[in-house]
Amino acid sequence: MSEEKKDFLPIDGTDYVEFYVGNAKQAAYYYQTAFGFQPYAYRGLETGDQEKTSYVLAQDKIKLIFTTSLIPDSPISDHVKLHGDGVKEIALWVQDARQSYRETIKRGAKSYFEPRVEKDEHGEVVFAGIHTYGETVHIFVERKNYKGPFLPGFEKWESDYSTPEVGLKYIDHMVGNVGWGEMNTWVDFYSQVMGFEQIISFDDKDISTEYTALMSKVMSNGNGRIKFPINEPAKGKRKSQIEEYIDFYQGAGVQHIAMATDNIMNTIKELRRRGVEFLHVPDSYYDTVLDRVGSIEEDISVLRDLRILIDRDEEGYLLQLFTKPVEDRPTVFYEIIQRKGAKSFGKGNFKALFEAIELEQSRRGTL
Ligand code: FE2
Repeated sequence: MSEEKKDFLPIDGTDYVEFYVGNAKQAAYYYQTAFGFQPYAYRGLETGDQEKTSYVLAQDKIKLIFTTSLIPDSPISDHVKLHGDGVKEIALWVQDARQSYRETIKRGAKSYFEPRVEKDEHGEVVFAGIHTYGETVHIFVERKNYKGPFLPGFEKWESDYSTPEVGLKYIDHMVGNVGWGEMNTWVDFYSQVMGFEQIISFDDKDISTEYTALMSKVMSNGNGRIKFPINEPAKGKRKSQIEEYIDFYQGAGVQHIAMATDNIMNTIKELRRRGVEFLHVPDSYYDTVLDRVGSIEEDISVLRDLRILIDRDEEGYLLQLFTKPVEDRPTVFYEIIQRKGAKSFGKGNFKALFEAIELEQSRRGTL
């Protein structure tokens, strides 16, 4: 890849991820209580917004927004009706939102909205938006001239209720599920329109069990801070988890958000204590895992008790675990990941993982 291609869309990191949900107040409480997110900013009737309410929650570098509509006729209500609770905006922190918009539109991006400036007494922020897969959008956020609590229109959210953090640090990657035969369309989008590079590819030989299969390609921006794996279903004997997602989400969308910790044992222990549900990992996984990954620093019996998965690549190893979907439709879930040198995504765990997912699917009658 040429330097020129790498440079046209510099991104400093994920700015925020915004969910459209049916009840933002209760979603915020869940993320505070279960995941240890901290109250950060608020927008709603009290701040002069008559149409929607948003709670912004933070944990280290991660900012999640939960937005609900206060009126029936709105894009937020439409989104929730069609998709259930789900990710609408993946916001990218940039130094120049106008240029980010111009460069991506020039390369074929579909506009969500043109660059606009929002101001308050704390300064100004420039926003612009483009569409990606499904109804998901990317917002470019240029905040270098802003000193307020979050963004214009938001107030600092003061709450008497707070819960200890669980050690989540930053978003490691965010995965999109797209429909049959659409993976390469979106790989091309991230490559040609956003200047990302494909860093990994899995096919159905890597990711298949007796019943289900999928294909995946991982796209990364130049500095590696943004990584978007794109999944599509592959033919198997039964319905794959990607198809199940597409059916319930009514189209392409964000499948999971991987959040990094630097002490996964403490993080998982605490999340379990607070009622977060994880995929079941069978006992047998731990009988052979060390033969596959070699020696690790952690006590394997503790990893087994917490049901944490382990994988290794050429550069090191990683520890990871996946929650069950966090809403009633089997759609969005989370991954908790700790990297110890490994830059990959846990390919060695796919089989064990998918068998666990199939067990859940069969209980839902969707396998
Ligand atoms: Fe992942």
